[in-house]
Order: sequence, then structure tokens, then C-alpha cells
Amino acid sequence: MAGFGLGFQSPGEETHAVELAVRGRIPEWLSGVLLRNGPAKFEVGGTGFRHWFDGQAMLHRFAIGRGRVEYANRYLDTPSSQAVLQERRIRYQEFATDPCRNMFARFFTPFLRSRPVNPNVNISRFGDRFVALTETPLPVEFAPDTLATLGVVDYDDRLGGQFTTAHPHQDPVTGDLVNYVTHFSRRSEYRVYRQRTDGTPQRELLGRHRVDEPAYMHSFAITARYVVLVEFPLVVNPYRLLLSGRPFIENYRWKPERGTRFVVMDREDGRVRAVLSGPACFAFHHINAWEEKGRLFIDLCAYQDSSIIEALYLDTLRAGGPLPQASPMRYCLDPEAGTVTGEPLAGESLELPRIAYQQRNGRPYRYAYGVGSRDGRTDDFLNQLVKIDVRDGGTLLWREEGCYPGEPVFVAAPPGHDAHGAEDEGLVLAVVLRSATASSYLLVLDARTFQEVARAEVSHAVPFGLHGIFVRHQLRSGTRGEFGS
Ligand code: CO
Repeated sequence: MAGFGLGFQSPGEETHAVELAVRGRIPEWLSGVLLRNGPAKFEVGGTGFRHWFDGQAMLHRFAIGRGRVEYANRYLDTPSSQAVLQERRIRYQEFATDPCRNMFARFFTPFLRSRPVNPNVNISRFGDRFVALTETPLPVEFAPDTLATLGVVDYDDRLGGQFTTAHPHQDPVTGDLVNYVTHFSRRSEYRVYRQRTDGTPQRELLGRHRVDEPAYMHSFAITARYVVLVEFPLVVNPYRLLLSGRPFIENYRWKPERGTRFVVMDREDGRVRAVLSGPACFAFHHINAWEEKGRLFIDLCAYQDSSIIEALYLDTLRAGGPLPQASPMRYCLDPEAGTVTGEPLAGESLELPRIAYQQRNGRPYRYAYGVGSRDGRTDDFLNQLVKIDVRDGGTLLWREEGCYPGEPVFVAAPPGHDAHGAEDEGLVLAVVLRSATASSYLLVLDARTFQEVARAEVSHAVPFGLHGIFVRHQLRSGTRGEFGS
């Protein structure tokens, strides 16, 4: 097995708050918690999950303060993970694994069975509440200090829908969370909603869009005025989803002749202003979007087709590929002219993109951070960190032999710590797997220069994660704050 295979292995035991050895000097202002989520349990008894995205969710917590770092991890406690960890069997349908071969159960409970969710994709905040997310619209709340599971956040509304994204956006104007659900039925539709971030999670329908064959959309775009659903031609017949008995994603079909459809919905009145067609492509992740003089700019990490999903089956990954690479692309939509044009933003491949989200989401921006593959090669896993200047395609790279970094999270320097106010003044945090020592470390880069500032060593390999957030602490003089609690 290639060295990166350690990233797809379950860690032996949970880790309870250990202090990590730090090399270099972490700036004093970096005070808070990096919370990350990802699949971490892949084997069950004598069998196993089939796909990377099926692994049972583990939360990771890097508490950073006064130059020190403490690490802990913990499995989310859900009916799905209880079956796996205690009964040692797979009981519930995942992204690409379905244990149910019984026709009766298959017919009557395809969506009910997905209720005991395994939210292994992302982390978000509903005000003061922290939630783990996946593509089933049932967030699971957890305690950010202990990583203890608190329970499913069940919405008390009639929005419906069986599929959503683990990438809600913050409305760049109001601060509300915005997301969509896909409602599968004879009259399937996408339902875009908003959710205020205070009080009880309440969703409010913003608009709907009918669709015969819903697309697999892992994320979407938001601008000051619009939501843009980018329908890649990986689509599903809802009846097949209900009746085929195949795992969720294996019901989808790649239909490049449909092209990619950009559904532009006005958040003011929920009306779809335009549906524009562009060349077929596939993406998991949007980078950013904004509007300018009647045109819309949509940046995303585009694959030529949807074969990346097959490439992420564990057998294929552990056998060493090949791993298709995504290109950072910019699509310019002109609703007036009805045109879509696309151009690459840089020569490097890019996945798991992050930006200075609080400052630039839905607005023109300059820098994107992500992971990529050295020279765009497909015979290794993601093995470098990439910073792209989207204005001119300039790139900075960080890489180390035999090392595999995860999603780089940008943390802006607080006011007073820099003199320029540039978009890239801050730090980039990434968990890196080092195959030679079978261990991982938290890497801290200067976001401007992409040079290493510090690293904190974990004594074992941390499975590859998907997404996470950095939660800043208020600096209070005279207290130790979060760290060491
Ligand atoms: Co994602």
C-alpha cells in the first residue's frame, strides 16, 4: 500500500486532550480551536465500508493558545456509529454502502434508514451551537470542548427534502445561513432556504426550482443577491433512487450531453432569473462567487467528469489510484446574453478550497487556498498545499516529501497585528500526514508567504479529514482561556 494509505485507516483509540510538541513559534494572537470532521472508521468486523465517504465520523480538536497546542479526537455517537463500534456491523445506508438487501425494507424505508446519520463531512455553527453535517438534512450537535455528541437537531418545519449540502453559506448581507435541500418525489425540486443563527434552528423557504432528474451538488454559490445552483450532469432518476436497492450515489448517472446548468435564483423573491448552460464538468466544491455589472462570476474546482467519485472507493485508493485532479475554474455568466464562458484560474490542481471567508464571501477576492497534486499527477494522493492569486494565476506551493496535507483553513490576523490590511494577512492551518513516521502534525503557515511558522506533532496518524472550522477565543488577559481546561 502506498504511504498515504494510513490516511484511510482507523486510529486505534480515541485521544483525550494530549499536549503536542511544538516546533517553531505560534503567534500569540492565534488563540482558539480548530475543529475538524472526517471519516475515520472504515473496518467493521470482517468486512468494511466501500467508499471513503462512508467512514464513521470522527471529530478532531486542536486547541491553540499561548503558543501551545492540545489535541483530542472522538467518534460521533450516533446509531450508525454505535452499530459499527459496538455491534461491529453496518446497519445503515451510507453514501456508497448499503447493508440492506431486503426488498420490503428497501421499498418502505429508503429515507427513514438514513435518519441515523453519519455526519462526517463538515462542521458549522448555529449561533452558539456546534453541529456536524453531512448530506442528510439532520445536523448532529456536539460540545466543542469535550466533542461529546449532544443529539440530532430536528427541524420543526415543513421544508422536507432528503438531501442537502454540508456546505451552508453565510448570507454575505444578513449573516443568515443559506442552504438548499433536494426533495425527491414525482415532482422533485430544489428548495433554497435561510436559517437564522440565533435561537431555535428555523428554516424559511426562499425559493424552489422544479427538476426532473436532480443533480448531485455537494456545494453551491452565493453572491450578495443570488444563489446559484450549479447542476453538474451527474443526475438521478428519483424512482431509481427509491427502488433500485443500490447505495445512494450509485443511482446517479453521468450524462455529459446535458451540459452543466447554472440555476440563478434571486434571494429577494425566490424567483429563478436564469438557467444558463455551460460545458459538462463535475465539482464538489465552489471557491467563491460574486456579481459585477450584471454578470456573475463563479469559481469552483472542476473535474472533467464524475470519475473522481469512483476513484475514492477505498479499494481503489489503497491500490494507489489513479486520482483525477480538479482545476480551479472561473465561469462568467451573462444572463442578458445567455452565455457561460469558463477559464482556468491557475495551472495547479486545487481541491478542498478555502478563502478569507468572513471578509470575501460573495464578493470579489484575490486568494484561494487548497490542496493539490504535485505537477497534476494522478498516481499519488493530494500531496501539496496551494495558494492561488486568482487575479493573475500566480501560485505559491508548500510540500514536503512523503507528506499529505488536508484542507487548509485560513485564519485572518486580528486588527493591530499587521500594518497593511491585505487579504492574505494571517495564518493557514492544515493537518498533514507524514507517511515515513506514520504520524501527523498540525502545520501553521504564514498565509502571505506560504512559509512554515510552526508545527505541532501528533504521535499517531490522523485519518484524512474533509472539512473544519477555526473558532477564535476572545483574548482575556489574566486567564488561560480554553487551553489547559
Ligand atoms: Co465538501
